Amino acid sequence: MKNILFAASEGVPFIKTGGLADVVGSLPKNLDRNYYDVRVILPKYSCMKQEMKDKLEYITNFYMDYNWKSQYVGLFKAEQDGITYYFIDNEFYFTSFRPYTDDPIWEIERFGYFSKAVLSALPVLGFRPDLIHCHDWQTGLIPVYLKERFQGNEFFRGIKTVMTIHNLKFQGRWNVKDVQQITGLSDYYFTPDKLEFNKDADLLKGGIVYADAVTTVSPTYAEEIKTPFYGEGLDGLLRARSGDLRGILNGIDYDVFSPDIDKYIPSPYNAINFRKEKVKNKTALQQQFGLEKDEKCMMIGIVSRLTDQKGFDLIAYVMDELCQDAVQIVVLGTGEERYENMFRYFAWKYGNKVSAQICYSDELSHKIYAASDAFLMPSLFEPCGLSQLMALRYGTLPIVRETGGLKDTVEPYNEYEGTGTGFSFANYNAHEMLRTIRYAEQIYYDRRREWNKMIDRAMAVDFSWKRSAEKYQEMYDWLIGG
Ligand code: GLC
Repeated sequence: MKNILFAASEGVPFIKTGGLADVVGSLPKNLDRNYYDVRVILPKYSCMKQEMKDKLEYITNFYMDYNWKSQYVGLFKAEQDGITYYFIDNEFYFTSFRPYTDDPIWEIERFGYFSKAVLSALPVLGFRPDLIHCHDWQTGLIPVYLKERFQGNEFFRGIKTVMTIHNLKFQGRWNVKDVQQITGLSDYYFTPDKLEFNKDADLLKGGIVYADAVTTVSPTYAEEIKTPFYGEGLDGLLRARSGDLRGILNGIDYDVFSPDIDKYIPSPYNAINFRKEKVKNKTALQQQFGLEKDEKCMMIGIVSRLTDQKGFDLIAYVMDELCQDAVQIVVLGTGEERYENMFRYFAWKYGNKVSAQICYSDELSHKIYAASDAFLMPSLFEPCGLSQLMALRYGTLPIVRETGGLKDTVEPYNEYEGTGTGFSFANYNAHEMLRTIRYAEQIYYDRRREWNKMIDRAMAVDFSWKRSAEKYQEMYDWLIGG
């Protein structure tokens, strides 16, 4: 038996803001549990849903030195799908309306605390991982602290670490002086070959430098981040570490995302009966959202965090033109105000064609995947992307930009060979996107048999966790000895 600990800032079903939580909530249960004892550790946020908080069971507490004070560390646990979840409790750090705040140095202080507390908690929990799998910058200090102050201790000696990058855009950067003060790390760590980046301290960089292996969530993104355009300043380091850097595609949980067993959708369907059944979900949604009731009209869905990463500038630029076409557009998400307002404006301007649901809702997201004919995701960059995998599963053909995981998972339609599962375009250019959408409209309206064959292929591809979980296992075994 090998012990693996996942450390992350969010995980389904306890707390979620994005795809990271889906991965942390679904990968552990897909690893071979006869061979790996996988546990997960998260912060205990005050903003967790009450029904989740009710599941947590208090274990114990202790005090830890951090930021020149002796700080409380409470430990809680819960069982979920046979996996043990631990929670680090500290009300000073984790009381907030949302898991993350907008104050960069406060974020560094909170997650620096979390990273140190994770290591300090292990002997108290009596759980010695063979490997700690860290996710994103919030856990970047775990490999660093492990090297710095825990390796001298017998309990910690030999623990391996993996750093997985879900999004390189966020790195936890701030001036060296403050970060050094808070984390208590010595001068030694703040040089350009370690945590320093352009005179600032960079927590993700620390994780990448000190982890035994680095991964990201698709093969294409693993290549892209070695270039200046996608590298967010760390492309040089990632090139230097390329021998230990691999891209392993995310999967999705087919127990949750399958149109034949989906409790949220009015008319379940499968790969055999979708021709008749899928459209019923569309008319139901048109009714629910007050769109024109027309089962023939092509519906385009968007479910996303509303951030610039996702390509909303392209959509804003050609939305008026697109709304002249015979399409309906349904949007669900929250995020940056400018994009929330942009979609509210178009929903007001084109009331019977555009619906904007500016909120977070699992139920509505499933309804949109089931109801839509196409799914639009023109991302500027996309480490993996999970929504396009959900869309494929629901026979809703993705229209994507060829970047990161989108490129690895959506095969563009080739009308000559009769292949492909969606539509794609290469450049970050609004009219290139519009042309691609219009090409999709043409196939949808004029060559419906071809469209349906594409649905057949889309629903047949397998992006469950099975294959990817095996790749993680291979890496774990390579690091800790199989
Ligand atoms: C981040 C990325 C997304 C990825 C997810 C899970 O949210 O933006 O592309 O799918 O993490 O790895």
